[in-house]
Amino acid sequence: MLTAGLQHFPLGQGSDLAGIVEEVGPGVANVAVGDEVIGFTNDRASQAEFVLVESGNLVPRPANVSWAQAGALFVAGTTAVRSVNLDASDTLVVSGAAGGVGSIAVQLARNAGAKVIGLAGDANHKWLADRGVIPVAYGDGVEDRIRAASGGKVDSFVDTFGGGYVELALELGVAPNRIDTIIDFAAAAKYGVKTEGNHEGATADVLGQLAGLLAAGRLEIPIAKVYPLAEVRDAYRELEQRHTRGKIVLEP
Ligand SMILES: NC(=O)c1ccc[n+]([C@@H]2O[C@H](COP(=O)([O-])OP(=O)(O)OC[C@H]3O[C@@H](n4cnc5c(N)ncnc54)[C@H](OP(=O)(O)O)[C@@H]3O)[C@@H](O)[C@H]2O)c1
Repeated sequence: MLTAGLQHFPLGQGSDLAGIVEEVGPGVANVAVGDEVIGFTNDRASQAEFVLVESGNLVPRPANVSWAQAGALFVAGTTAVRSVNLDASDTLVVSGAAGGVGSIAVQLARNAGAKVIGLAGDANHKWLADRGVIPVAYGDGVEDRIRAASGGKVDSFVDTFGGGYVELALELGVAPNRIDTIIDFAAAAKYGVKTEGNHEGATADVLGQLAGLLAAGRLEIPIAKVYPLAEVRDAYRELEQRHTRGKIVLEP
């Protein structure tokens, strides 16, 4: 057996899932064979044709929520829920605003009434603007562009990209307890900012609420691409480029 860090190989991948229940175990009352469900597994096992999953990790798939969006919802959605903690008077900046977590975080923040500035490349500016988000290009001069777009008042910062955004948020005058990074744990340890992500929000309850928002048309998961499961390596190659809009989905 190979060991890397705390992981033991062979190791599966994937937490998010959506599908049709094939079999249920004894004593299961909340789902039945044939039910269409959205869910999650904590066993790194969802990138497969069949997944053994605890019935408490499943919620019904609303009929108008596509399979792709359903299958992409859990980790990014519950992470975004937890990282967005604001009210209507706030101005929030999100780095990686069109990515898997960021694209959901910006929509939830807009739903809460906040002014939202999304850092993204040009190709994603229209998508953000169409959802009421002020798009700002990252790269040289980003601090000045954020100051201009915000009118100098930034209350909160969600960092989904890393590489210096925690420091930028502090430069902008955001209080450490209003900065949340889901990726830069070294900066979080150094400056005492928050690292609230998937762990805190990862429940079937939150998943059900997100599914309800999708069904009501108040949330959308952009689907960058759907790959057949057999092409999973290509999916990861695309993901590691870090220019995905929304989520990449695997279909068995
Ligand atoms: N802690 C947790 O609970 C948790 C949960 C889920 C994910 N994560 C972690 O969070 C991170 C983000 O995941 P994700 O799936 O949301 O990422 P992702 O989908 O790969 O995000 C990529 C996004 O980053 C943007 N981007 C690229 N270069 C940038 C730059 N220099 N500045 C700002 N944005 C830039 C891209 O926008 P353009 O295409 O416009 O360039 C793209 O939309 C990953 O490291 C993941 O492991 C943590």
